[in-house]
Amino acid sequence: MVVDHKAAISYIELLKEDLIIFRFVPNDGIIPEYEAGQFLTLGLPIVAENHRLIRRAYSIASHPENKKYFEFVVRWVRKPLPGRVTTELFYLSEGDPIFWTNPVGDALTINDKLHDGRKDERRIVMVSGGTGIAPFVSFTRHLHDVGDKREIICLHGSSYMDELSYQKELTAFDTESIDRGKDKWNFTYRASISRPKEWFNRSWSGNKGRVESFLKPKAGGISTLEEMVGEKITKDNTMFYICGWQGTIDGVMDFMTPQGFVTMQDKREDGSFEVKFESYG
Ligand SMILES: Cc1cc2nc3c(=O)[nH]c(=O)nc-3n(C[C@H](O)[C@H](O)[C@H](O)COP(=O)(O)OP(=O)(O)OC[C@H]3O[C@@H](n4cnc5c(N)ncnc54)[C@H](O)[C@@H]3O)c2cc1C
Ligand SMILES: NC(=O)c1ccc[n+]([C@@H]2O[C@H](COP(=O)([O-])OP(=O)(O)OC[C@H]3O[C@@H](n4cnc5c(N)ncnc54)[C@H](OP(=O)(O)O)[C@@H]3O)[C@@H](O)[C@H]2O)c1
Repeated sequence: MVVDHKAAISYIELLKEDLIIFRFVPNDGIIPEYEAGQFLTLGLPIVAENHRLIRRAYSIASHPENKKYFEFVVRWVRKPLPGRVTTELFYLSEGDPIFWTNPVGDALTINDKLHDGRKDERRIVMVSGGTGIAPFVSFTRHLHDVGDKREIICLHGSSYMDELSYQKELTAFDTESIDRGKDKWNFTYRASISRPKEWFNRSWSGNKGRVESFLKPKAGGISTLEEMVGEKITKDNTMFYICGWQGTIDGVMDFMTPQGFVTMQDKREDGSFEVKFESYG
């Protein structure tokens, strides 16, 4: 049976007219144990439907060590018809009530052990499009808090520059890595803009194209990602985590399947795999 807990909205940051970061605090003040990369189900009474509670899944952007609130980044779905829950969500103000169920999901949790029980020390590459960055913000905040020493690469793609929702925080994590030394915190953040020719993006000087273009081999057979890490990406040295449209997952796998990479869903007989993903559908 679904148990809906009550909470109150504590913070809303309107990044643009259809993109928000928001937080809520449970009414009893208790944030349950959960893992970075999990999602929970938010419920809102829909006014036009006689206040019936409608629920939708949202990835948690805050991290398990944060016991003050849950944080999310949400797109207002407008086409072809206004989304039922997101439309209601975009009318909320601080203090308004919201319902939630306990965090769940193992599609995108961080692999700490290999199939044979050894510690997973492979490089972590997170690839996301749009609001698919949410679980990786949770990953990053968590890995930073626990002092994880793995090499972490965060690749984020969006159509427009103002949709790189966590650019400031992730750039600060990247800068910290340079300042403190990669032996202490090894984190790199790179963004890609998929509509670089549009006027709004005219000042963009970073990577251009959808996020999976970081993996595309260039002249000489080396990808931008491989240039960044300074070596060939192999299934023995890298674990991929992907969140976004199915096209983003497929785009990454188009490059990685020929290299022998397999997903958790298609793991080998011995239980090994190198890719975890969550798709928007
Ligand atoms: C594991 C998971 C995690 C997620 N995490 C996030 C997240 O972090 N951030 C985020 O923004 N989203 C996330 N989502 C998506 C989220 O769950 C919702 O699907 C999304 O917010 C849309 O909900 P809605 O009620 O507003 O839209 P809905 O009302 O469910 O509409 C969905 C789509 O159907 C269309 N539609 C609705 N009614 C009709 C109709 N009568 N005829 C034709 N088309 C129609 C809408 O236009 C829209 O395109 C996640 C989903 C999953 C499964
Ligand atoms: N875990 C989940 O299931 C989850 C998590 C977050 C959000 N969502 C839902 O996903 C929907 C849209 O998300 P969004 O608004 O964040 O994304 P978005 O801004 O529409 O797109 C983000 C990036 O993905 C690219 N993209 C769009 N369609 C693609 C495709 N078919 N194949 C490959 N790349 C594609 C875009 O490129 P172009 O500029 O070329 O379009 C852009 O660079 C929302 O309805 C949201 O509710 C689901």
